[in-house]
Amino acid sequence: MASRFGTVLVGGGSGFIGSALSKVLRTAGYDVITVSRKPGVWQITWEDLASDGLPDNCVAVVSLAGQNILDPRRRWTPGFKQNVWASRVNTTKSLADAIQNTKTPPEVFATISGVGYYKPCQETEYTENSSGGDHDFLAELCRKWESAGNLPPELPVRRVIVRSGVVLGRHGGMIQQMFWPFYLGFGGPISSGTQYLPWIHLDDIVGIFFHAISNGHVSGILNGVAPQVITNSDFTKAFSRAMWRPAIIPVPKFALNLAFDKERAVIMTEGQKVVPKRTLEVGYKYKYPDIQSACKNLARLIYVDQM
Ligand SMILES: NC(=O)c1ccc[n+]([C@@H]2O[C@H](COP(=O)([O-])OP(=O)(O)OC[C@H]3O[C@@H](n4cnc5c(N)ncnc54)[C@H](OP(=O)(O)O)[C@@H]3O)[C@@H](O)[C@H]2O)c1
Repeated sequence: MASRFGTVLVGGGSGFIGSALSKVLRTAGYDVITVSRKPGVWQITWEDLASDGLPDNCVAVVSLAGQNILDPRRRWTPGFKQNVWASRVNTTKSLADAIQNTKTPPEVFATISGVGYYKPCQETEYTENSSGGDHDFLAELCRKWESAGNLPPELPVRRVIVRSGVVLGRHGGMIQQMFWPFYLGFGGPISSGTQYLPWIHLDDIVGIFFHAISNGHVSGILNGVAPQVITNSDFTKAFSRAMWRPAIIPVPKFALNLAFDKERAVIMTEGQKVVPKRTLEVGYKYKYPDIQSACKNLARLIYVDQM
């Protein structure tokens, strides 16, 4: 039986953010179909999408696919960079093509991008209106990723782009990698710790996408960051305090440059001061607006998802 609210198609719906968003959408009464590299239940492949188009009664399309950039097992080779690029730009383009080829377009097309769009800087405060997208590989990727989702203006589809900061959740991303080192007392700041850390709790990045899908007035670019601007050192203090552990062993910049290559290590060694001006203006209410409440939630040893 078709759901009351219709179907949401989520590219990358099997991932860290996508699976959390799918759970919230299903709880709210939507059907959710994932687009994946593998077939499965409530799942279609990218090839199925290209041949069969959007599913029936598709009210929203979301783009959340992407090869993990900070996979420590993968060297930053031209081949891997191509993978990182294509897994974002081509998947978003495939979703946009499917929307253009359907007779019954969805109400909204929401895609993720990153705050890497903005040039790392200690002085400038970036809002959604700030310029960027051209200073390095990751910025250019964000710009191309965003424009891959462009639709002809005559199509009656709301277009939303969420420029996300580092997503903090227990079952993926940065926290999953650092939970046990911090728990065992080996945590510490990255480099000097003075670089900004644009961040957001998983529940809030999911909340922003849900807000965009379910509210007809939301469109345009939204910064997917928490309202509280912090540095890496602020995060280290908040997370170690929430765990009742010391965190005094710094991770040197040169070690990260060596392990990850400088071009992608910038995600950790440098940062941008990003504020969610439009996100607040469109009425999104944060569950975790400050790093203390987010870390208190994330530091518990036994973690049960509350969404
Ligand atoms: N997590 C963060 O802190 C953060 C911050 C800013 C932006 N983002 C962006 O948000 C998106 C989702 O993040 P996430 O943390 O949820 O990612 P994730 O869990 O690492 O991956 C999301 C999904 O992308 C698909 N995927 C992986 N490699 C692929 C490839 N080579 N080609 C096609 N699809 C591929 C996978 O789906 P299948 O295996 O089912 O194909 C995977 O489940 C990513 O594009 C990421 O760059 C994330």
